[in-house]
Amino acid sequence: MLYNLKDIIRLVDKEDRGIAAFNVFGYEDSQAVIEAAESIGRPVIIMANKDAVNHMGVELIGEIMLHVGAQAKVPVDVHLDHATDMEVIERAIRSGYTSVMFDGSQLPFDENVERTRHVVEMAHAMDISVEAEIGAVGYSDPDIRFNARFTEPQEAKRFAQLTGVDALAVAVGTVHRMEMQKAELQFDRLQEIAKQVDIPLVIHGSTGVADEDLAKLVRFGARKINIGTALRMEFGQTLRRQFADDPKEFDRIKLFGPCMEAVKDKAVQKMELL
Ligand code: G3H
Ligand code: ZN
Repeated sequence: MLYNLKDIIRLVDKEDRGIAAFNVFGYEDSQAVIEAAESIGRPVIIMANKDAVNHMGVELIGEIMLHVGAQAKVPVDVHLDHATDMEVIERAIRSGYTSVMFDGSQLPFDENVERTRHVVEMAHAMDISVEAEIGAVGYSDPDIRFNARFTEPQEAKRFAQLTGVDALAVAVGTVHRMEMQKAELQFDRLQEIAKQVDIPLVIHGSTGVADEDLAKLVRFGARKINIGTALRMEFGQTLRRQFADDPKEFDRIKLFGPCMEAVKDKAVQKMELL
């Protein structure tokens, strides 16, 4: 069943738990994540990032996610992740995504506020929730040109008040696309932001967070925990093992079966930590 971001977070907020938000890239991982959530009876968020949108278009990946989400026995939010292009956001809203993220983290404060407010106006008119970012969570890949910076609590407070967003991504030490769980987190900063801001906080780049810190993030005020690379690694590594174990196999459905199982197991493990 489909939920928007605001309502799905309200469900986990009541229980003082977090919700996992997984990047997916097609049918196989979307379905695996939904099966994972159903197997433990937890709500879940599935998200299309820029790579998925560039690969197959915002509508097609949206159709896949919306279809599996609507059939699911647990609440599912279908989210557009890290969008910087207004046209893509408008297309996602028209397609029925239940939430969108406008990522203005590389813009000056006032411009980030102005563009985020515009997205909030468009999305809220359709009962679609909006996430935005203040501060900037960087990338481990040095080829990605990006100005990373920590979130300042007072700035986060002003940003939330001025924009009316439903959830706020903050930078407290995570880095996108880490392959090892070695992020050095600033829990004091997170706690201070949570004190100042009364909307749910989002942590990006959570593949790099140690298992015990994932649970701690939630205790210190985070609600939506974004995980992408961990599932991509699981899928890719399992596929590589399949080729090695059975070099004659060419049928993608047979090759993808164990990859879906591996993604499902990893998704369950992450969700249980939250
Ligand atoms: O928005 C997506 C997440 O921040 C994913 O980050 O791939 O480092 O887990 P990750
Ligand atoms: Zn992210």
